[in-house]
Amino acid sequence: MILNVVKYPDPVLQKPGEPVTEFDDELRQLVADMFETTYAKNGIGLAAPQVGVSKRLTVIDTSLGKDPNERLVLANPEVIAREGRLYEEEGCLSFPDISEKVVRAAKVTIRAQDEYGKWFEKEGLDLLSRCFQHEIDHVDGVLFIYRMSALKRDLTLRKIRKLQREGKW
Ligand code: NI
Repeated sequence: MILNVVKYPDPVLQKPGEPVTEFDDELRQLVADMFETTYAKNGIGLAAPQVGVSKRLTVIDTSLGKDPNERLVLANPEVIAREGRLYEEEGCLSFPDISEKVVRAAKVTIRAQDEYGKWFEKEGLDLLSRCFQHEIDHVDGVLFIYRMSALKRDLTLRKIRKLQREGKW
């Protein structure tokens, strides 16, 4: 089922998610629906707060659904190592048509549980590294506008307010 993706400034987006404690069929259905929603929106990642579920859960697939081996489920994720620096354009399904450059680590190692509760570690480089950081920020209630420079954030928020006034947000 394709889920409704909430947009900024919905408060659920700025609240840290609750830890995932039940690795049951209900969780796995949510994960399946989150993947379906991500593909429907041509995204590469989606976090549970973006579908109105305040949980520490995110799904990632940088292949856009083309390679099943790229499907990653991260429950209770954390970044355990980071190095290097990237400054690339990023977007977010909760900020339609907004894209801005943000600073991220070039390489991160994350630790998380899969949809069955099994802990794993994974290294991400470049695009995957950025995606890990963006989605793990989401489960912490942190949005990418807060990773922009103050100037870019101001311009972005102004653009959103204008779209809101025009009824296009
Ligand atoms: Ni996002």
